[in-house]
Amino acid sequence: MTLTPQQPATTASEEGSATALANPNIALVKYWGKRDEALILPWTGSLSLTLDAAPTTTTVRLTDAPDDVVLLGGRPLEGTARSRVTRFIDLVRALAGRDERVTVDSHNEIPTGAGLASSASGFAALALAASTAFGLDLDRRALSRLARRGSGSASRSIFDGIAVWHAGHDDESSFAEAVPAPGLELGMVLTVLDARAKSVSSRDGMRRTVDTSPYYPAWVERTPVELEEMLAAITRADFTAVGTIAERNAMRMHATMLGAEPPVRYWGPASVELLDLVANLRGDGLECYATMDAGPNVKILCRADAVDELATRILEAQPDIGVIPARAGRGARLITSEPGGS
Ligand code: ADP
Ligand code: DP6
Ligand code: CO
Repeated sequence: MTLTPQQPATTASEEGSATALANPNIALVKYWGKRDEALILPWTGSLSLTLDAAPTTTTVRLTDAPDDVVLLGGRPLEGTARSRVTRFIDLVRALAGRDERVTVDSHNEIPTGAGLASSASGFAALALAASTAFGLDLDRRALSRLARRGSGSASRSIFDGIAVWHAGHDDESSFAEAVPAPGLELGMVLTVLDARAKSVSSRDGMRRTVDTSPYYPAWVERTPVELEEMLAAITRADFTAVGTIAERNAMRMHATMLGAEPPVRYWGPASVELLDLVANLRGDGLECYATMDAGPNVKILCRADAVDELATRILEAQPDIGVIPARAGRGARLITSEPGGS
């Protein structure tokens, strides 16, 4: 059951504590590049599908301890990964006008740092759990803006199904919102070719692209056009156009990275094999389209009623890989909450 801060939790909980769940989202028009690193303002808008699979569950508890404790998968985070969370909690403390320390206990079902959107589900869940634990009752837009400060893509995992993140020009105007898509039932099969964390984070990969790729200006010029085309295709419930635009946009994002100095390349031979497989399946009449993010794992977009067949066909061709079948899922939600009074 989902509980809002106004409803008493029926599950055991303590004051100043909240548990939130958020799903990963996969972009169909990609976010790649910040024009403001501090506020995480992107150069371009983006659009994604929130999945119904592999969520992050995060509990935030206020404590009397002298320092924040951050656990991921039961183990303490250290270094940059830890400070990324504690700086985020600093933002929440400032918003709430409070200074208690917290324990953050987070579990990802999706592999972390493998280009499968763990930072999206991770910071969407953290934004909701932390803001609630500190007694804030943020609306979805404010929550999206807050999640954005942890990881840009997290701004979109706040919402059900398809979400568009408006690039905006400042902290207030850069937020995501849901895109109604009547008649368009999307599915996706995520392949897990390599679950290990990438060697270049999304953050570093996009910074290098912005700073050094001569192709990046073309990305900034072109992406708004593709976003408009995508929104129009969604309005017409035109699956073929949605898939075609998504696949092309992903390839163009990787083209900008390949132009960086040194090049940023997230795909390997297994990724290319999957791209060929998608083209072959499509040739055989199973309409599907490939997309890839900052990692080697290919995601395949299809109609919702084709997910099972697509997963079967992928496993027939590649019996040793992992697959995660998914459809449109829900945005971030609370599982338990007992906001702390100030
Ligand atoms: P991904 O492709 O998985 O989104 P990123 O490079 O964007 O990879 O981000 C990975 C980083 O996001 C991790 O190294 C960690 O710092 C952070 N992260 C992932 N999941 C969580 C989580 N549940 N809670 C806090 N931080 C997380
Ligand atoms: C390729 O949101 O992970 O997945 O804002 O630095 O945390 P930070 O980056 P992140 O970048 C995601 C990039 C992408 C495309 C997308 O999800 O739109
Ligand atoms: Co990420």
